[in-house]
Amino acid sequence: MRSPPEPYRTKSCEKIRLSAKGDRVAALEKAGFNVFLLPSESVYVDLLSDSGTSAMSSSQWASLLRADESFAHSKSYYSFMDSIRSVFRFEHILPLHQGRIGEHLFFQLTLKSGDHVPSNTHFGTTRANIEAFGGIPHDLLTSAAFDWKSDVLFKGNLDTEGLLDLVARVDKGKIPVCMLTITNNTGAGQPVSLANIRSVREQLNQQNIPFYADAARFAENAYLIRKYEDECKERSLEEVVKTILSHFDGCLVSAKKDGLSNTGGFFATNDTALADSFKDLAMLTEGFYTQGGCAARDLEAMGQGIKESLDEEYLSFRVGQVAYLGEMLAGEGVPVYKPYGGHAVFIVVEEFLPHLKHSDFPAQALCGEIYLEGGVRGAPENVKAWKKKESQMPEFVRLSIPRRVYSNTHLEYVAQVVSGVYKRRGSLGGLDIVKEPPRLKEFTSTFERR
Ligand code: F0G
Repeated sequence: MRSPPEPYRTKSCEKIRLSAKGDRVAALEKAGFNVFLLPSESVYVDLLSDSGTSAMSSSQWASLLRADESFAHSKSYYSFMDSIRSVFRFEHILPLHQGRIGEHLFFQLTLKSGDHVPSNTHFGTTRANIEAFGGIPHDLLTSAAFDWKSDVLFKGNLDTEGLLDLVARVDKGKIPVCMLTITNNTGAGQPVSLANIRSVREQLNQQNIPFYADAARFAENAYLIRKYEDECKERSLEEVVKTILSHFDGCLVSAKKDGLSNTGGFFATNDTALADSFKDLAMLTEGFYTQGGCAARDLEAMGQGIKESLDEEYLSFRVGQVAYLGEMLAGEGVPVYKPYGGHAVFIVVEEFLPHLKHSDFPAQALCGEIYLEGGVRGAPENVKAWKKKESQMPEFVRLSIPRRVYSNTHLEYVAQVVSGVYKRRGSLGGLDIVKEPPRLKEFTSTFERR
């Protein structure tokens, strides 16, 4: 399989280089075997995250100069609002400086201690914010999601039976909101089907439970819905996004992903009382509500980025490029989660390193080896040693592809590097933990070789 050619060309370039092997060894040791702590200069191809790492288009760069940095109600605020509203048809839209502040304010306003919040899978910061306000997050996926080899579509779907069961188990009024992550980032970037969104909505209607999307990757999810669900085949991507969102009461968006922005996000809702309280709290933490912690130039970049996110050629290349990397790895025998999702390829660590135990931190060990092999940085995901309950999702190394940044040649290089490690997998050892923070542990924990 070939990837389609890039639907853009390079206008400005940034030098990257592969450092010497000895320098990589020293850098990884200094970083305590945690790739999050590596200086980016010592990384050659950086697939740590697709968040905030996009290349901006020439139109986005031009919009920075257009920005009106007035304190309140700047021209940039209005153009941001027009752009977001043209797709996100909610009554209230509040800009934010990134996704997780939205989660923080939202759960502060909607949760009481002991409340339950179901989702397909909560992203790490969402989970941590729910817990910070005394809530109990629930990840409800269907059993298909846990079979990494099967080609079943829409493995991001929320398990409606699990939802019914949760509703029956907890006291009435103890589920103030249900979330849905589209696409399901930590669940191997899998999309959620429109049919599933509809049936979750129907169930929630019966219980009067509001339904919010974590819509960081709304465009990739819409693309995959259109690709695989017959009723959407003839629709434009914008129509598919509008249809998806029509089933929600609101959404939280980190614009650092599909929004093609280096920072930014927003909260959208049809609930006027909630929007008012949110605005009030955001003024305490983010700044004036027409800025939301952003400079006007960030609002411009976001507004333009959201428009570009639904470009047909861009999205088909984008999703195709992820599958291209997946197919190259699978072709070398590397165990990767299937089908490929919208933003990343997920290496199944248990299958790659069956001789290591979860307590050996195999995902961190594999990230380290991939870095040592060729300066490529991926991220550990779903680290089992840290899961209180046994998670049925495998432990992963996530290779996230920044948008419009790397060429197909870079990805061919990545495939060579990972298959090089795969060939010597039997010789890889585990890690011992040295330092561990209380939460969001993958970011700052340090390790040493066993
Ligand atoms: N929701 C999802 C699904 C995410 O993937 C992220 C961030 C957030 C919320 C939080 O948004 O970073 O703007 O505060 N994901 C990044 C990643 C960090 O690498 O997947 P944020």
